Amino acid sequence: MRIALGADHAAAAFKQELLTYVRSLGHTAVDYGVPLGATASDYPVSAEITARAVASGDCDLGLVCCGTGQGVMLAANKVRGIRCAVCTDCYSAAMARQHNDANMLALGARVLGIELAKLLVSTFLSTPFEGGRHAVRVGMITDIERRESAGEVTGA
Ligand code: RB5
Repeated sequence: MRIALGADHAAAAFKQELLTYVRSLGHTAVDYGVPLGATASDYPVSAEITARAVASGDCDLGLVCCGTGQGVMLAANKVRGIRCAVCTDCYSAAMARQHNDANMLALGARVLGIELAKLLVSTFLSTPFEGGRHAVRVGMITDIERRESAGEVTGA
């Protein structure tokens, strides 16, 4: 697969290690910055660039990193078609793919050790979406997105 990776300054070195790891798994890893040694950068910028690479179909899945994973997750999820999950345990990383068809994983460089992060990444990348009843629910998420951009506020 083609995997997009992006990070802010707090996670640049962490993202660099994951880039090498993703390649070692046999995937193509595309680096959307920031580069190693970058000074303070705004996490919404790298999150959006990386998310757009996934949303456009240029990459199959994406990994975004910041200090906690929370900021890049919030920003990535503003891009239409993105389902980005912050994970700190392997069960959630598997379920995010299997049940939620998450297409991006957000990781916190100040929260996770690099070896746990690698396990989360390999779990996320190797777990397929189960489809079936889960596809109906994911479709409902997409429908919220559609109604939101159409300005339809109808409630549940
Ligand atoms: C940067 O200091 C930090 O705020 C950022 O990496 C991230 O954790 C935000 O959610």
